[in-house]
Amino acid sequence: MGLFSELGGRVVGGPSILAANFAYLADEVEKAEEGGAEFVHFDAMDNQFVSNLTIGPMVAASLVPETSLPVDAHLMVQNPDNLIPAFLEAGVKSISVQPEAVVHLHRTLTTIRDGGVEAGLTLNPTTPPESIEWAIPHLDFILVMSVNPGFGGQKFIPETIEKIRRIKEMCDLPIQVDGGIKTETAPLVVKAGAQVLVAGSAVYKGDPAVEMRRIIEAGRSGGPGVGGGE
Ligand code: DX5
Ligand code: ZN
Repeated sequence: MGLFSELGGRVVGGPSILAANFAYLADEVEKAEEGGAEFVHFDAMDNQFVSNLTIGPMVAASLVPETSLPVDAHLMVQNPDNLIPAFLEAGVKSISVQPEAVVHLHRTLTTIRDGGVEAGLTLNPTTPPESIEWAIPHLDFILVMSVNPGFGGQKFIPETIEKIRRIKEMCDLPIQVDGGIKTETAPLVVKAGAQVLVAGSAVYKGDPAVEMRRIIEAGRSGGPGVGGGE
């Protein structure tokens, strides 16, 4: 069990700490939690799969005991298999990998799930929805990138909306969306079928509690028949 398997019809949001002040990480997460965040999105980048370089399992291990929110690791790294055991050890609750960075996807997803955490597959903007087909039984969620991975503050790619709809026709798995999510785009992706909203720069551009709440509420207002939850 976990965030994704227990979602039901709810729409939830969480901050991407990429846009936070890393010197005060736990405090920054707490501020978003005050705004209704239900998870923390943790972006690991290696200057290989993407050109940026961020944080890894050691920082995750420091953050996990300092927050009551589940930590969701988005691995934008080559050979994520090398890092998955350390992320599991760090206590994260979900891990998503990018198929382009993995050779033996079945094995990778099985390793994540055998570690007792939820497994996600992340699709880049032009990675076709059909690429998830044979992985579906081994997945707990799909992460749809609505920008090219690597940096915060980029412009939302509108084709994402149709892609979410297509994935929703293919399977019942919860869809997380990441990139350019703010009050204007949140309702659009929820209406298409997304339920888990990740927002970085839009949360930390101002008071994170206020901005997080506005984004979650905007998302919940967009989904016909999708319950807002608490
Ligand atoms: C981008 C990361 C995102 C990023 C989103 O590669 O995966 O999580 O922080 O940032 P915004 O919300 O600013 O687009
Ligand atoms: Zn991310």
